[in-house]
Amino acid sequence: MKKTCIIIGLAAIMGVYTGLALGGEASVEQGEQLFNDATLGGSTNDKSCSSCHPNGRGLEESGAKDNLAQMINTCIEKPLGGQALENDSVELESLVQYIKSL
Ligand code: HEC
Repeated sequence: MKKTCIIIGLAAIMGVYTGLALGGEASVEQGEQLFNDATLGGSTNDKSCSSCHPNGRGLEESGAKDNLAQMINTCIEKPLGGQALENDSVELESLVQYIKSL
């Protein structure tokens, strides 16, 4: 009985750590998810980035630009009607990584 409790407890703790690790690190995968997420930046319409740039089409050259993060935020504020992401946020970094991967 005690053993079961310890095992369940450990599993719960590991689950929390895995969750934090996944949420806490920028990745191309997360960027792709956000790119297709119509709620990105608290978007006030049903558009996502891929509504206008399907699968990132047309952005293949954008990864080389040094104002990429700024352009991403412009598209979040204008076409999505959302709010710009924090400059050092995991979300923005993930979107930058995704666009650079195209
Ligand atoms: C309503 C359509 C629309 C939506 C939605 C949209 N964009 Fe754009 N985006 C544009 C247009 C138009 C331009 C300027 C013309 C171009 O470069 O394609 C542009 C330009 C860009 C550029 C600069 C391209 C370059 O190299 O000059 C980036 C990067 C970009 N968008 C990323 C995004 C991201 C990330 C999202 C989601 C947060 C998004 N866009 C959502 C229409 C849109």
